[in-house]
Amino acid sequence: MRHESVLLAESIEAMNLQSDSVVVDATLGLGGHSLAILSKIKSGFLYAFEIDKDAKKNAQKKLKNYSNYEIIETNFVNIKKELKKRQVEAVDVIFFDLGVSSLQLDCGKRGFSFHQDALLDMRMNQSQSLTAYDIVNNYSESNLANIFFQYGEEKYARKVAQEIVSARSERPIKTTMELVAIIQNSVPQKYRRQTHPARRIFQALRIEVNNELANFEQALKDSLDLLAINGRLVVITFHSLEDRICQKVFKSVAKLKPEIKKLPIVPDNLKLKYKILKKIKPSAEEIKQNPRARSATLRILERVR
Ligand SMILES: C[S@@+](CC[C@H](N)C(=O)[O-])C[C@H]1O[C@@H](n2cnc3c(N)ncnc32)[C@H](O)[C@@H]1O
Repeated sequence: MRHESVLLAESIEAMNLQSDSVVVDATLGLGGHSLAILSKIKSGFLYAFEIDKDAKKNAQKKLKNYSNYEIIETNFVNIKKELKKRQVEAVDVIFFDLGVSSLQLDCGKRGFSFHQDALLDMRMNQSQSLTAYDIVNNYSESNLANIFFQYGEEKYARKVAQEIVSARSERPIKTTMELVAIIQNSVPQKYRRQTHPARRIFQALRIEVNNELANFEQALKDSLDLLAINGRLVVITFHSLEDRICQKVFKSVAKLKPEIKKLPIVPDNLKLKYKILKKIKPSAEEIKQNPRARSATLRILERVR
């Protein structure tokens, strides 16, 4: 299984890896970034989080030439607890490459893609009980509309919710293609030609199924405390909602509050502990090779004291 790691060279450079670095890859996926990390940390160690058990098997094959790593099969929201269990108090790099891997997207059975027919599932963690089917068939119309509006930024959120509720009153909506047809019939012809009309609705459902935004925000905040001095937090986001959370958390610790800025001398205990480094977007060449990179943004935060 091939997954083209997005912004690979740029994210590895951003990590500023040393031979003895201790690194967390919060989103192992198929192990593309982890492999590149391991090739640089001969005497260091990598902790790789992954919630999807199929991904773990693939990644293990890819990392077979290395032994200085551990795959932690759990949600990255548990990062603090899991590192504490292993007596790890500070790490040099924490890396997030959000979203789904091509294993999840291309696997016909998982229900992430609006191009392939599958049962409405979208769980990254296959042992969790909530699926996209439950949301589509059981959430109230207003709840659906809110989710589509907030997590999909979909302007026809209300209309799509209304059409879903009407369709499911006849029989349950079971598959991705049934849902795609309902979405297509809910939006005007003109809108259908812009982007695929199901894109935003599928994004919203995926976020709700996996509680993606809340987990990411919590894990990012916890990561701040886990960074060693000179350590770096390196994050690749794929849509504006993730990116806004990243910017908000970074700014909350890397920008002086106005009342402190006004002080003639900033006391040591109020000095900033983190610095935002540059933001990086994929090159035109990468986007041509891998269209999935199109919406990626790489952000870097460094702990300075
Ligand atoms: C874009 S892929 C990572 C690709 C990887 N960097 C590579 O080069 O192969 C994101 C991965 O993160 C996993 N993931 C997403 N949210 C997670 C979470 N909250 N906890 C743990 N893993 C998560 C997904 O299952 C998916 O395999």
